[in-house]
Amino acid sequence: MKQSPFANLFRRKSLDAIKEQGDSEHAEGHRLNRVLTARDVFNSGVAAIIGTGIFVLTGVAAANVAGPGIILSFILAGLACAFVSFAYAELASMIPVSGSAYTYAYATLGEIFAWIIGWDLLLEYAVGASAVASGWSAYFQSILHGLGITLPACIASASAHGFSSIDLPAVLIVAFINYWLIKGVKHTARMTSVFVIVKLLVVAFFIAVGAFHVDTANYTPFLPFGWSGVLTGAGVVFFAFIGFDAVTTMSEECKDPQKDVPKGVIGSLVVCTLLYVIVAAIMTGAMSYTQLGGAGEGAPMAKVLDHIGFAWASPIVSVGVIAGITSVLIVLLFGQSRIMMRMSKDGLVWPIFGKISKRFQTPTWSIVIWGALVAFTAGCLPISELSELTSIGTLFAFVIVSIGVIVLRVKEPNRPRGFKSPGYPYFPALGAIMSFILMCSLPAITWIRFVIWMAVGLVVYFVYSKQHSRLNK
Ligand code: ALA
Repeated sequence: MKQSPFANLFRRKSLDAIKEQGDSEHAEGHRLNRVLTARDVFNSGVAAIIGTGIFVLTGVAAANVAGPGIILSFILAGLACAFVSFAYAELASMIPVSGSAYTYAYATLGEIFAWIIGWDLLLEYAVGASAVASGWSAYFQSILHGLGITLPACIASASAHGFSSIDLPAVLIVAFINYWLIKGVKHTARMTSVFVIVKLLVVAFFIAVGAFHVDTANYTPFLPFGWSGVLTGAGVVFFAFIGFDAVTTMSEECKDPQKDVPKGVIGSLVVCTLLYVIVAAIMTGAMSYTQLGGAGEGAPMAKVLDHIGFAWASPIVSVGVIAGITSVLIVLLFGQSRIMMRMSKDGLVWPIFGKISKRFQTPTWSIVIWGALVAFTAGCLPISELSELTSIGTLFAFVIVSIGVIVLRVKEPNRPRGFKSPGYPYFPALGAIMSFILMCSLPAITWIRFVIWMAVGLVVYFVYSKQHSRLNK
């Protein structure tokens, strides 16, 4: 008898099956290298979080939508992420394999939700990485410009009309990072640590000099755009928090994932939120929010430094920004390859994405294919508007993960949990509600694109994934 296409949509992959699969991959030698420590995980969290968001968006958001109230926007977005980070930490402590929200959804809500999340995370990681690579290129070219070098227009940026020019620096940085990712996760972690130190030094320098130039008069009016401005600002600066969840894609490469991943997720988020709030307070305190946008919108830190008489430090800050954005790219590209690898091992995407190189113990094909796609989109498509797609995709994953924690507590209350979300059921519920509210603060066009993306994903699911799911066996 022919099966209905809607049969088995909610079949779940049991936690025991997930664990068994991990063990058999281990026995067959098809597994990743468990080399990462708690410090590597924390570093990767900071690496992924601090980037374009704080270095670029803070000034634009303060000037255009929130005023000094941007400080509250950061607190609001940070709070939403904190509730969600507890949920991620709880699930990571129960399901310590790669794949992050995708794997958690498979265990808690069923296959169709897992697919939706996996497809949705492509937005966070692949589209996000493309957007970040373009931002990297813009900063890189501004440094070259300062040195008197201007790239020919045909290789300087993607063309909005056809393929008449490409963004070569964006393509090259993606290619370079993928090369490192193939060589091995420990190499990558080492490189990431260097970038993290550089950008933390830059942020610390900014705080240290800026703190002495805050004029409280700049905080009046504090909410020039009202509370709705604070909410819109939170939607914009939410991008700055994206990445703390990427750490959960590293579980399978951690020495002690049940402990290290929860620590890494929560620790990196707390540190970055504190830094963000302080930086936002200094930016809006050292000069009027009205001057933080406008010409050269991309560099609010440099503007503040110029304003308080530290113009000589601007190039140093630019180097920190480049380091910051590079490390964000590393973690996003890393996360992307791991999620695809996990989906491939579950049969939901083609087997090639799950192949692990014996030599490097990394999912080489997944890295190469996604790296090429990200390089292509970053190099050839004008993707600036697509960056909001990254936020909506991530927030949607947050909603599902938060609900997943509640579902699993109800369905499997006695299963051991290395970490338990405090404030249950309120915290996970608040995580889901606040993420949804932030989704609602994004523009209608972003919602339309998101819905189209998801519809395409469902077609792929019904045409390929459902038939090939390992759960059929
Ligand atoms: N949080 C990352 C950034 O701000 C994505 O660049």
